[in-house]
Amino acid sequence: MINLEKIAITTSQPREHLIDIAQKIRTEIGINYIPRNKLSLENIKRNYNLSHLLIVREDKIIVDDQYFFHPGMAVPRIKMLKKGELDPMVQAMDIKEGDSVLDCTLGMANDAIVASFIIGAKGTIVGIESSPIIYAVTKWGLVSAQKGSKDSQNAMRNISVINSNYEDYLEKLSENSFDVVYFDPMFDVPLLRSNGINGLRVFANYDKLTNDVIKNALRAARRRVVIKEWKYGHILKNLSVHEVIGGKYSKVKFGVLLK
Ligand SMILES: C[S@@+](CC[C@H](N)C(=O)[O-])C[C@H]1O[C@@H](n2cnc3c(N)ncnc32)[C@H](O)[C@@H]1O
Repeated sequence: MINLEKIAITTSQPREHLIDIAQKIRTEIGINYIPRNKLSLENIKRNYNLSHLLIVREDKIIVDDQYFFHPGMAVPRIKMLKKGELDPMVQAMDIKEGDSVLDCTLGMANDAIVASFIIGAKGTIVGIESSPIIYAVTKWGLVSAQKGSKDSQNAMRNISVINSNYEDYLEKLSENSFDVVYFDPMFDVPLLRSNGINGLRVFANYDKLTNDVIKNALRAARRRVVIKEWKYGHILKNLSVHEVIGGKYSKVKFGVLLK
């Protein structure tokens, strides 16, 4: 369990707009703000006995000098979709322009960015993330990242990010709130080459999907619930899944539960 009292936020430079962002994040997620005061990052961590330090920079927030938001595979996936190639997640979601998607496990938002690209500006996409640190890094990354094409950037800016756990959020939703509800829980066995999410591992929530959550997700979905898991995972085989999408050589598969 992460102790927020031992986590603080500072800025790369003593600039007013960076300090404003740091203060906003501090208030929102309940960590400490420490003015930079020309101190080295090591000194701040040592002097304040911190386990983790977030630094607000112009284009991103960096945690412990190593974890930061990046759109990762979302950029090449969008490029491939534009060329008319298939994306198994998009196939499983069966989404089109104007649809609404609830991503219950936002993480680095790579999947959400791809879904957001497909549904476009007329669509609605909400991402839920329970870890306050991952929430802050991804939320700020999505609004400030300059990486990728115009299409990827528009897709990033269109995602609404909420700091909650999906259990609470789903319970409050009324029936048929989103066309598709999506889950990509943390895998039991890390896919070692999946560098994209290695940085967030230490902060992530490893909750298992329960039958109650899936029941609530189906209630909140107008059309379908999609669950991603690694190819040797056991979640999907215990559910009445309509279809499983994922190539023979793919490391992951997508289970579709129809309404
Ligand atoms: C495997 S990552 C998702 C990666 C994401 N699909 C992407 O493309 O970047 C799973 C994320 O879901 C979050 N998570 C796990 N359980 C959750 C819960 N009960 N409520 C909200 N978020 C949760 C974790 O903290 C983690 O950031």
